[in-house]
Amino acid sequence: MSTVGTLKECVQLPIKDNELVDIVQKAKDWAIMHGAAMRSKSNFSPDTLNFAPFVLVPSSFPRKEFERAIHLQPTINRLMHNVAHDEEFLTTTLADTIKVDEFTGNLFNVYKKVLANGFGQRISLGLLRSDLMLDSNCRNLNGEYEESETETPSAYCCWKQVEVNTIASGFGHLGPVSRAIQSYVLRELNQAEKIARMPKNDALAGLCDGMIKAWEIYANPKAVIMFIIEDVSYNICDQRFHEFYIREKCPHIKVLRKTLTQVHDEGKLGLNKELLIGKEEVAVIYFRAGYEPGHYPSHNEWDARYLMECSRAIKCPSIHYHLAGTKKVQQALAVPGVLDRFLNDPEEIKAVTKIFTGLYSLEDNETGNATYEMALKSPEKFVLKPQREGGGNNIYGIDIPSALKKMSRFERSAWILMDLIHPPISRGYMIRPSGPVPPPVVDMVSELGIFGVIIGDVDNIICNYEAGHMLRTKLSTANEGGVAAGLGALDSPYLID
Ligand SMILES: Nc1ncnc2c1ncn2[C@@H]1O[C@H](COP(=O)(O)OP(=O)(O)O)[C@@H](O)[C@H]1O
Ligand SMILES: [Mg+2]
Repeated sequence: MSTVGTLKECVQLPIKDNELVDIVQKAKDWAIMHGAAMRSKSNFSPDTLNFAPFVLVPSSFPRKEFERAIHLQPTINRLMHNVAHDEEFLTTTLADTIKVDEFTGNLFNVYKKVLANGFGQRISLGLLRSDLMLDSNCRNLNGEYEESETETPSAYCCWKQVEVNTIASGFGHLGPVSRAIQSYVLRELNQAEKIARMPKNDALAGLCDGMIKAWEIYANPKAVIMFIIEDVSYNICDQRFHEFYIREKCPHIKVLRKTLTQVHDEGKLGLNKELLIGKEEVAVIYFRAGYEPGHYPSHNEWDARYLMECSRAIKCPSIHYHLAGTKKVQQALAVPGVLDRFLNDPEEIKAVTKIFTGLYSLEDNETGNATYEMALKSPEKFVLKPQREGGGNNIYGIDIPSALKKMSRFERSAWILMDLIHPPISRGYMIRPSGPVPPPVVDMVSELGIFGVIIGDVDNIICNYEAGHMLRTKLSTANEGGVAAGLGALDSPYLID
């Protein structure tokens, strides 16, 4: 059994009821009025917004681990870039998975077709987000605590990677705005001096500047940036603020929003493989949809994806970047020795190896069968993951054996097994639409996302930088914490030493 630490709170709890009721109402209004908001799923209207659930004051996060994560991001960017450009690695790694997982198979077909017919654009734009959790049970491979020189429980935590997102990495706006809400709350609580411990966060600017840079590389002053969107966008603020940033900074760059179905209906290639939507030529395609099967209701949407991949437009992500972000690839990267293929510097390889938790293949072979037996024997140590994005797809702990037993040996190849991370608990107030007033103090755990921007082709990296962060927090009892899914809440780190 693991020991889970507790992080010291940023403000003293509880806050007195009358003060709490007052500050919560002000903070809710602040959130709505600054676009820390979403459209309601239960009561949808394109004309209204609800504030997004948020944590009232920032959650503590060990400074050393935060800085380590920020510092590592350009390496993660380069790793993903190199993986995306390794055809042999993607092909062998995904070989079994695509036989059983139809969605990944369809993505892979697009990739194969583009490989056969030639890429219309060699340059890719990566707007990545590396997600991580602190692990309370942080031991090295010898079973020793890694950071044992200090005494507080939080000091035993080190961060472990949950996944790297290469498509639709959200919260470029909601990340920074969470810091702004909580700064406002701390000022209203007369604790403004604490804001200095909240790291600055320019995620929106960092990501949008990446899109603008890609637009400049495309070098047609008349071309537009196109966002690929879902039929209904609940997380609208986190897309519109990107659009508004681009329009304000570069009024000459037009931004279009199109669904995959609309691209199918309105899109075609010009003589030089330029992507034309009606009369507009598209320089950059930014996918905020296209990462789950439901976004492709018919062949038309797959045809649209292929059309875009063939085009000269710079894609975020291009199909090989999308494939590099699959869970199966993540698992394959954690196999000892594999990182050497993509990174040269031994220090970098060591640093990346340190953030991996146990990741295990479930392929139909000896290794996969050993994973299967291990999962049946002690399921409480693991999470079982399919090749999906967007939350709500994983199977946790004691639910794993019955799920695995229902699958054929062949079907298991579509899944990977991962060690469960045990983040330390922080206490605080989670504020949600129609939630109790005053809110109770609850136990919570957080997941940090670090954004990265990388632009380049197989031979050359043109730019590569870390681009801010986001923190999502959920009740400690919840398995998953998607904010759009209604389980998580906006938060930001309060760095403790
Ligand atoms: N190894 C893990 N340990 C603990 N929680 C995890 C682990 N992996 C995933 N989770 C939880 O499940 C959520 C979804 O998992 P993730 O791998 O990020 O899939 P998705 O692509 O659907 O976002 C994460 O945000 C996290 O809250
Ligand atoms: Mg995730």
